[in-house]
Amino acid sequence: MNFPTYVVVLLPLLFLHAHAIIFNIQNNCAYTVWAAAVPGGGRRLDRGQTWTIGFSNGPKLAKIWARTNCTFDASGRGSCLTGDCNGQLQCESNGSPPHTLAEYGLNSFGHKDYYYLSVLEGFNVPMEFRPTTNGCTRPIRCAADITGQCPDELKAPGGCNNPCTVYNTTEYCCGAGRCRPTNLSRFFKARCRDAFTYPEDDPTSTFICPEGTSYRVTFCPN
Ligand SMILES: *[C@@H]1O[C@H](CO)[C@@H](O)[C@H](O)[C@H]1NC(C)=O
Ligand SMILES: *[C@@H]1O[C@H](CO)[C@@H](O)[C@H](O)[C@H]1NC(C)=O
Ligand SMILES: *[C@@H]1O[C@H](CO)[C@@H](O)[C@H](O)[C@H]1NC(C)=O
Repeated sequence: MNFPTYVVVLLPLLFLHAHAIIFNIQNNCAYTVWAAAVPGGGRRLDRGQTWTIGFSNGPKLAKIWARTNCTFDASGRGSCLTGDCNGQLQCESNGSPPHTLAEYGLNSFGHKDYYYLSVLEGFNVPMEFRPTTNGCTRPIRCAADITGQCPDELKAPGGCNNPCTVYNTTEYCCGAGRCRPTNLSRFFKARCRDAFTYPEDDPTSTFICPEGTSYRVTFCPN
């Protein structure tokens, strides 16, 4: 996947730009997480810490997630139990399942932002994704105890897998043709009704804001 050119700028500079977009990423978990953003990189966030990423223009697509139980050396190489991105502290590629995922996209044709939470890569850390500007106010949340209640066949170290990850079948992954909720996708939907739980879940799970909205992502919002 090719990401468009983007610019990460320091917070004070953002106010010079008409279309500055800010993602505030906050760790409210009792434990440390290693936040990941593509584009954006990655950062260790201890309990209560916030990481702010600014874009002078919105990226076409952005993914934000939490990694858990990581160890990195001084050069930023290492590994994580969940959400690992090719062993890098500064992510440049997608994370390994399981991990809860916040996704943001810019529809440049319709001049709208769309934003959603997804469990298509499974679940590791409870999350909230909330617009903070432009009068856009609908928060989305996936904060149930999915790891604790995970069906046996989906259990994974540090989280709960999506059935597509485990079974890799057309039924769960949606190949060609119709795509419907499954027994196992309903396990997620019952607990996270705002989240994408199978690939064609769009109608209930995509949220829209005006172009140029800023957002807050909170790990462990409860
Ligand atoms: C992962 O980290 C959490 C919180 O620090 C800890 O409670 C848990 O035992 C760790 N899990 C593993 C498999 O190391
Ligand atoms: C899933 O199945 C498809 C074909 O059915 C295969 O091409 C792909 O490599 C499989 N993915 C994984 C992760 O096993
Ligand atoms: C799947 O569906 C069957 C029949 O409706 C039900 O008995 C079973 O408990 C379900 N499994 C899960 C994991 O929800």
